[in-house]
Amino acid sequence: MDPVVLAVSGASAQPLAQRALQLLLEAGETVELVTSRGAIGVWQAELGLRVPSEPAAQEAFWRECTGTSSGTLHCHRWNDQAAAIASGSFRTRGMVILPASMGTVGRIASGVALDLIERAADVHLKEGRPLVISPREMPWSLVHLRNLTALAEAGARIAPPVPAWYHRPSTIEEMVDFLVIRVFDCLGYDLGSLRRWQGPLPPT
Ligand SMILES: Cc1cc2nc3c(=O)[nH]c(=O)nc-3n(C[C@H](O)[C@H](O)[C@H](O)COP(=O)(O)O)c2cc1C
Repeated sequence: MDPVVLAVSGASAQPLAQRALQLLLEAGETVELVTSRGAIGVWQAELGLRVPSEPAAQEAFWRECTGTSSGTLHCHRWNDQAAAIASGSFRTRGMVILPASMGTVGRIASGVALDLIERAADVHLKEGRPLVISPREMPWSLVHLRNLTALAEAGARIAPPVPAWYHRPSTIEEMVDFLVIRVFDCLGYDLGSLRRWQGPLPPT
């Protein structure tokens, strides 16, 4: 099976990225992970994690954080425009940007590929491969909405991490799993045991 690109930019919701990585590796997937420079500071602010930028150190770091030994993990430096995922000839199953900052959204929407996330997203769009963007900002300005619309028109799926209550979550972890699994549904993955809607549950 071709690898999936997991891109993490500097928006709030880094726990979703960490859980996505864990679920993908536990499922035995091959993950091409790229974290933006902006995301490094948000990892630290939200989870107290100091993510190394050097790929080998980052791989060891994520293996320890996620407690996984299964699957295959390739980490890429944020600005490595010569990485395999920067080329259309490198096959992937698709790319997910989780979470996507408004800066990253704006640069991809205008075709500006300054870092590896933006270049890989540009490649997925030009190759007509699945690109799922999970934007995190609140509220959205007209600029944000126009950029997201341009990306949807170019073929991206816009899948914001918006919670639901119909599955009756009782912990933050259940809510995180719901969000991650629904984002990866867009690529055809079934990443976990989600209580999917099958009609109303009985009253409690
Ligand atoms: C703790 C923290 C939370 C942030 N949350 C968001 C957010 O939810 N959405 C957003 O667009 N930017 C957010 N930002 C700002 C981005 O990190 C900043 O614009 C950065 O330059 C984005 O870089 P990137 O797009 O290369 O990842 C946040 C910054 C910090 C420090």
